[in-house]
Amino acid sequence: MKLGAWTVAALTALTATAGCVSWMELDDASCPPEGTALDYESFGAAFFATYCNNCHSAKADERRGAPVAYVFDSYEQVLALEERIFLRAAGDNVTMPPGPDDPPEDARDKLAEWLACGAPRSSDASEP
Ligand code: HEC
Repeated sequence: MKLGAWTVAALTALTATAGCVSWMELDDASCPPEGTALDYESFGAAFFATYCNNCHSAKADERRGAPVAYVFDSYEQVLALEERIFLRAAGDNVTMPPGPDDPPEDARDKLAEWLACGAPRSSDASEP
């Protein structure tokens, strides 16, 4: 995906306010040569439930400002928003969540790996 100049400007401003010096896009991330053992059923669903859906679920009592279009309740919703999710929460991208309950680095690295490997849904689907 090519980012328009306005997107780059917006992201630069965003990361600047968050105190980051750089960010990585999903397109630039690489899947390990051996592939990934991570899938939505064993990893993704629990990751979003634990770290994101307090604010991002359609059923969240208090969204605390999370945009209504950014709901991570299902695999399809996550897949449709994967580039934005990567940019905000995967690997060294740490601008989400905004609160103190950050995922550990290990969980962010797993998110990056899972998305970079095509976000397999179940262990069956991760077979080439
Ligand atoms: C404490 C509440 C809260 C939690 C938890 C939270 N978010 Fe957010 N999210 C927000 C708010 C508020 C915004 C809108 C402001 C902004 O974009 O910074 C937002 C916006 C977003 C956006 C849309 C903005 C964009 O860059 O396109 C994405 C994607 C996102 N969050 C991903 C996540 C992910 C992934 C997690 C879990 C790792 C997460 N959020 C956890 C509150 C939260």
